[in-house]
Amino acid sequence: MDRIPVKPFRSRDWFADPARADMTALYLERFMNYGLTPAELRSGRPIIGIAQTGSDLSPCNRIHIELAKRTREGIRDAGGIAMEFPVHPIFENCRRPTAALDRNLAYLGLVEALYGYPIDAVVLTTGCDKTTPAGIMAASTVDIPAIVLSGGPMLDGWHDGELVGSGTVIWRSRRKLAAGEIDEEEFLQRACSSAPSAGHCNTMGTASTMNAVAEALGLSLTGCAAIPAPYRERGQIAYETGRRIVDMAYEDLRPSKILMREAFLNAIRVVSAIGGSSNAQPHIAGMAQHAGVELHREDWSDHGYGVPLIVNMQPAGQYLGERFHRAGGVPAVMAELADAGLLDGDCLTVTGRSIGENIAGRTTRDREMIRTVADPMMDKAGFLVLRGNLFDFGIMKTSVISDAFRQRYLSAPGQEDRFEGRAIVFDGSDDYHHRINDPALDIDEHCILVIRGSGPIGWPGSAEVVNMQPPDHLIQRGILALPTLGDGRQSGTSDSPSILNCSPESAAGGGLAWLRTGDTIRIDLAAGSCDALVDPEEIARRMQEGVPPVPESHTPWEELYREKTGQLADGGVLDFAVKYRGIAARTPRH
Ligand code: FES
Ligand code: MG
Repeated sequence: MDRIPVKPFRSRDWFADPARADMTALYLERFMNYGLTPAELRSGRPIIGIAQTGSDLSPCNRIHIELAKRTREGIRDAGGIAMEFPVHPIFENCRRPTAALDRNLAYLGLVEALYGYPIDAVVLTTGCDKTTPAGIMAASTVDIPAIVLSGGPMLDGWHDGELVGSGTVIWRSRRKLAAGEIDEEEFLQRACSSAPSAGHCNTMGTASTMNAVAEALGLSLTGCAAIPAPYRERGQIAYETGRRIVDMAYEDLRPSKILMREAFLNAIRVVSAIGGSSNAQPHIAGMAQHAGVELHREDWSDHGYGVPLIVNMQPAGQYLGERFHRAGGVPAVMAELADAGLLDGDCLTVTGRSIGENIAGRTTRDREMIRTVADPMMDKAGFLVLRGNLFDFGIMKTSVISDAFRQRYLSAPGQEDRFEGRAIVFDGSDDYHHRINDPALDIDEHCILVIRGSGPIGWPGSAEVVNMQPPDHLIQRGILALPTLGDGRQSGTSDSPSILNCSPESAAGGGLAWLRTGDTIRIDLAAGSCDALVDPEEIARRMQEGVPPVPESHTPWEELYREKTGQLADGGVLDFAVKYRGIAARTPRH
């Protein structure tokens, strides 16, 4: 094969450095353990890493163990040599105290693997929430050609003739349990029914959102994000992804040529249109930071909020991943946005073509699933950025504000989009669970539930705990949601209207630290403000009392994470890591 790469492959420095024949021999010999020959490794073909995120500890991504076989065949057929290696496991549901600790850890590990080994280009296998941003962040830091291969969502879940989606079924069943409508056995049955096959969450939770984001950024093959894990097209796109990454290695098509500001703005718009997870905010901010792209906190309001919800998928809508894929998936959504002038079609993608070229003619035929911008599920459905005396940055996912909630809280005559409530403050989720049904709290429908100690430093890692449900007595009266607010996150599968990711968090001295139960909080969505109505002198007095205590670190990584990680507003990245960018340009020394 005499294809000439745009730039010599970095693996040559390991396997074919004429100046260091002694080292070259050492590098080559152990790969023969599994049958590779020196001739292959010295043939001048690119070495393609497959960053494997699937394992028994990462069930959402476990399909990748199977898919990697097809990816390898694609790599071989296109003239590359595949080398598969493990990525630190991230399993959203199960990792305590939260999987959010592991995004930055997986990032760090992947940077070292991609940099320190003879890898010329990489297939990033993604699925469960944080596997996608971790991989993309690392690929940006190293800046070798990289392509995202999603594992795909599970098949649709069904229970008693009703669609039940990952996570969303849990939040909804908890309310039914609290209202006495179902028992614990029924709760378990509903939860299990939502997970019928291999794959990641089948709702538009954080996993499906982040895989859609990867595609919107131009980092995966067209249509890759939404193909359900068990479908035959999933194996086929694994093969095509393997083929394509070899070409990208020859073309030297690196993340830094794809990840421009316009690509990130496209991703923000797509998140709004699909009713995507509020976790997209810290992940997109984090990826932009590592890509060296200037993204502003207000970009979410300025470019995302005005975009309508056009995808009818849980938790904001009705359906699940299979129908979304059959309706055309992410390309069909982007085609609608492009038609309405809401997409920059010029952005370059891993296909070597522009987004506009990739999605040409991809209009859906299922208008029940993917609506038009002119006739959406909901107008102005993106994230709203709020600020005030309690925090500099918080976001609200407006696509899940139900009509009933809007009617109760946001529609008093002359006070549309405004709400005042009495704060009930909890220090972490144990405190919430212990006290939420305590009659002494006197919670009624005019309250706002606040949780602090749930941010990156406080938890540590930042937890999905802000979607607090009201006390049982309110649920039994039909009040299924109260306004909530906190310095943590909420599950992307939750339909709770919350103010999230408040930065700075209370553990870092943010305003939530001085808030007290009984204070009045005023929220004005139109003005983008959220304030506690407390005198400045009183605030100053309370600040003297210091910040509420947080649990001590239990592992070395927790301690390091707390020391080095920034706030959610800016992506919660390892602050010192951002300056390392394009590091593969300098080959590590022998
Ligand atoms: Fe892994 Fe949802 S828990 S994808
Ligand atoms: Mg989650």
